[in-house]
Amino acid sequence: MKAAFALFVLSATAAGAAALAPGVESPQRAQMNWMLHCQGCHRADGTGNEGGTPNMAGDVARFLSVEGGREYLIRVPGIANAGLPNDQLAELLNWTLATFDAEHVPADFVPFSKEEIAAGRTRPYVSEAADVRAALREGFKTN
Ligand code: HEC
Repeated sequence: MKAAFALFVLSATAAGAAALAPGVESPQRAQMNWMLHCQGCHRADGTGNEGGTPNMAGDVARFLSVEGGREYLIRVPGIANAGLPNDQLAELLNWTLATFDAEHVPADFVPFSKEEIAAGRTRPYVSEAADVRAALREGFKTN
């Protein structure tokens, strides 16, 4: 299931199209939103910048495997405060996970919905994101 998912994403990318993934209605719109709202900090390829934006390539979906990780992904300021409606933000987050770290998306992953985004983004982290992030990463497996 996981391998099939990864293959699906890979072949879509290899074909020159943006990644297709669960919870992504329009990969083109998601990629455009990424360019407009996110890549200034995260870079086009998700590798982040020296100013403190962490790399998410090959890494970001690992948050889905630890308790509290799903909530973290919604409440992180770059997401919670993005100038996007809940449905497009859910799509963008699902696209982000599939595009930059399909390898770590769990087989039983349930895509983010606009309702889950709406509820989570009412409580954005203010200054605690880095500490929450560090604590969650303690729970990551080493592989
Ligand atoms: C102003 C710079 C900035 C912008 C714009 C931004 N982010 Fe971030 N993002 C960060 C930083 C810094 C972190 C690490 C947590 C923290 O300290 O806020 C982060 C963390 C994340 C994470 C959690 C992954 C991790 O490794 O911690 C995700 C997912 C994410 N951002 C997605 C997005 C998306 C999607 C957008 C666009 C809607 C976006 N970000 C816009 C700076 C930014």
